[in-house]
Amino acid sequence: MAKTIIISNRLPVQLQISNGDITAVPSVGGLATGMKSVHSGGDSLWIGWSGLTDEEIPEELIPKIDKALAKHGSSKVNLTEKEVDGFYYGFSNRTIWPLFHYFLEYSEFELESWEVYKAVNQKFADAILEKADNDDTIWIHDYQLMLVPQMVRAQRPDISIGFFLHIPFPSYEIFRTLPWRQEVLQGLLGSDLIGFHTYDYERHFLSSVRRLLGLEVSFNDIYLDDRVIKVDSFPMGIDYKKFSDAAKEHSQRTEDEKSELQKRLDTHKKSAPDAKFFLSIDRLDYTKGIAKRLNAFEYFLNKYPQYKEKVRLIILAVPSRSNVPQYQLLKREVDELVGRINGELSTVSWTPIWYFYRSMPFENLIDLYTSSDIAWLTPIRDGMNLVAKEYIATRTDKTGVLILSEMAGSANEMNESLLINPNNFEQIADALNEAINMPKEEQIARNTLLQKRLERYNVEKWANDFMTSLVGQKEKDQTYKSR
Ligand code: ADP
Ligand code: G6P
Repeated sequence: MAKTIIISNRLPVQLQISNGDITAVPSVGGLATGMKSVHSGGDSLWIGWSGLTDEEIPEELIPKIDKALAKHGSSKVNLTEKEVDGFYYGFSNRTIWPLFHYFLEYSEFELESWEVYKAVNQKFADAILEKADNDDTIWIHDYQLMLVPQMVRAQRPDISIGFFLHIPFPSYEIFRTLPWRQEVLQGLLGSDLIGFHTYDYERHFLSSVRRLLGLEVSFNDIYLDDRVIKVDSFPMGIDYKKFSDAAKEHSQRTEDEKSELQKRLDTHKKSAPDAKFFLSIDRLDYTKGIAKRLNAFEYFLNKYPQYKEKVRLIILAVPSRSNVPQYQLLKREVDELVGRINGELSTVSWTPIWYFYRSMPFENLIDLYTSSDIAWLTPIRDGMNLVAKEYIATRTDKTGVLILSEMAGSANEMNESLLINPNNFEQIADALNEAINMPKEEQIARNTLLQKRLERYNVEKWANDFMTSLVGQKEKDQTYKSR
């Protein structure tokens, strides 16, 4: 039977070795959490990197590792430490990630890491070729694997290949600075269908294809030799039911069943019923605007001092890519800012910022979502931002206010939230004030619309739309070839 092969750098779980044994922890990030829901419902195989380098894996643990991954319908690509350095910490996260998020000054152009990126992409392509039958569908994900589509196409000219980019595709003026811009475009054009979160990213990509490769583009079809490739936008949804059901269950827990975190949140709510919790959840990444948000929080408290001792900012920052210098610098900056603001503003009964630097189990994420009056998400650039959608899905009584950066892909679908420019502190302070004072009926009216949209366009619908479009495109391509 024909199957779907999902391929991405991250698998649904990351393996860790502790006390000579293997443990699997859920992967963090939009790609993994979104695709996990798609993968668990279907007959698919997921190929990716386990999170461990070859050097870290003792020979005798290999069968255990394969077994642990098989439990998650997954199979691994082996990477050495040198490959992880050049491919993951190097070209993927020191060149492409900053460049595609418009952090041009952070982007490093090093031939050596480009060479490793190419070699590792070939490894992923080989892993697909080893497992794929000709009637299978290959779905390749994200910026770490942009050369894989063409590498697979070269060996299997007729196989169906879809590619989805989970981060922004930047404007031509930014993309053209990449020394290997043509190769990256040619790699992606091995696909039959290339998907982006938003129409803007799609437009930027088409413009680069036209201007850098001089190819014929008609509406959203690209003509290359005897092939037609489609480019389209598919804004990724969330597993709405999973989040809303979890929130409902949470609200029915007895005191004994509650987590320690929830008990602590409840105690604070009881001691100050008028106090408001602001929540932000992100990977610790410079694109997420965490440092700016902290400065904006201080600005807000200066502009509206009446909220001192009345509001609390909860920051959950998940450790990410900590071998990359920019992330280390950011960690230091955030630590210092939290320390300084808390040091200057705290009173005996009030700590303005609660800062957690760790990953949390799903149950605690729901504790935070359901206990926070305001979700405050201010990325400077973000392909989508699923956290914004998850917060809304957990608001079972429909109260709560979302303040969201207009630079997040999800802002396109979340017009009923308070949209802000993350660089405009004046606007942010006013939005926080508006959120605190927003009447319940208005919160409910806004969230009703948001929830309906998120429930309808959930992650399952997103994946189905992509797959249906891929099937249609393959037929169109075959008709074009046989003309
Ligand atoms: P990105 O993909 O850039 O990390 P998103 O907001 O799109 O940003 O996705 C983040 C995903 O990671 C969400 O699905 C969220 O639930 C999950 N996540 C965030 N923080 C944690 C955490 N502390 N523990 C587990 N999962 C988390
Ligand atoms: C974003 C990227 C994903 C990535 C995730 C977590 O969502 O689009 O491809 O997996 O961040 O980052 P990491 O580097 O830990 O995989």
